[in-house]
Amino acid sequence: MNITVLGCGALGQLWLTALKNQGHALQGWLRVPQTHCDAKITGIDGRRSHITLTANDPDFLAQSDLLLVTLKAWQVSGALRALTYILPESAPILLLHNGMGTLQELTALPHPLLYGVTTQAARRNGDELIHIARGVTHLGPCNEAGRGFSQLADTLHRALPDVAWHNDIHAAAWLKLAVNCVINPLTVVYDCPNGSLHNHIEKVNKITQEVAIVMLREGYHTTPESLLTYIWQVIDNTPEHVSSMLQDIRLRRHTEIDYITGYLLQRACAHGVDVPENRRLYDAVKQMENHYERIGPDMPRPWH
Ligand code: NAP
Ligand code: PAF
Repeated sequence: MNITVLGCGALGQLWLTALKNQGHALQGWLRVPQTHCDAKITGIDGRRSHITLTANDPDFLAQSDLLLVTLKAWQVSGALRALTYILPESAPILLLHNGMGTLQELTALPHPLLYGVTTQAARRNGDELIHIARGVTHLGPCNEAGRGFSQLADTLHRALPDVAWHNDIHAAAWLKLAVNCVINPLTVVYDCPNGSLHNHIEKVNKITQEVAIVMLREGYHTTPESLLTYIWQVIDNTPEHVSSMLQDIRLRRHTEIDYITGYLLQRACAHGVDVPENRRLYDAVKQMENHYERIGPDMPRPWH
C-alpha cells in the first residue's frame, strides 16, 4: 500500500517504521516544510533502527491508499483541512488519537473515516523514540464509507500487532475516554505518576461514577464497578508512567483536555447530567494551560 502518515511524533514514527518493515511505500507529513523525515527507534527488545523517508510530497499523497493521522486531537482538523483536497476521495483516513470530538469537526469530509484507540506506548527521548510497551489498537468505521475497510485491521496487525476491528468502535472509544478522564487530569492535579493515584482512591471513585452515568446516557452498557476495575487495571499496569497530559503540562505544551474531559462535559450537558468533579478537574487543567499559554507567546498552540 501507499501510506502517508500525518504527524511524525512518537506514535507516527512507530507506525512509519512498522509499516516500512512490512514493505509498504510510506511518506511522513510534517508541520514544517521538509522533504525528508527520520524515524529513529529503540524497540522493546532493545534493537535500534533508523529510517529516512520522503516527507510532504503532494504527488505521493494524491496516490495514497491510506492517510494515517497520528496527531494530538487538537491538531487534527486544522492539519487535515489543508490536505484532504489532495487525498483521493476513495482513500480512508484513520484517526489515531486520545480523546473524542474530532469527528464532529470533520463531518463534511467525503472520505471513508475510521477512528482508532491504542494502548501501544512510545515516548520521545531527544530525537529518538523508545517503544515502551506493546498494546492493542482498536479501530472501526465512523461513517458509512468507512464500513468496508475491515481488511485494514489485518494489514496493520501484520505490521504492529495487536490490531482489532470493531463494526462499532464507539464502545472501545468510550472505554478509553473513561480511562483518560480519570488518569490524565488527576495525575496533572496531583503532579504524580499513574501508580500514585492509589493515594486518591475517593477522587478516582467519584470521577468514574460521573463518567459511568454519562456513558449509560450515551447508550453504552457499563457500571461504575466494572469501569473502576478496568481503570485500576490500567493504573496498576503503568505505575511509573507519567501520563501524556502531565508530560504536556510539564513541557508547557497544549494538552488534550478539551477532547477528553471537555468532550465528557459536552455530552453530559447534552443529557442534562451534572458532573461537578469532572468540571472541577477540567477547570484546574485549563487554568494551568492558560497560564503558560498567556505568558509564553512562543508556545505551540491550536490554530483553530
Ligand atoms: P506527538 O509525539 O506530539 O506527535 C504529534 C506530531 O505531530 C508531532 O511530531 C508534531 O510536530 C506533529 N504535528 C503537529 N501539528 C502538525 C501538522 N499540522 N502537520 C503535521 N504534523 C504536525 O504525539 P504522540 O505521542 O505521537 O500522540 C499522538 C496521539 O496519540 C495523541 O492523541 C496521544 O494522546 C495518542 N497516544 C499516544 C501514545 C504514545 O505512546 N505516544 C499512546 C496512546 C495514544 P511538532 O512536535 O513539531 O509540533
Ligand atoms: O494518556 C496516557 O498517558 C495513556 O493513555 C494512559 C492510559 C492514561 C496511561 O498513562
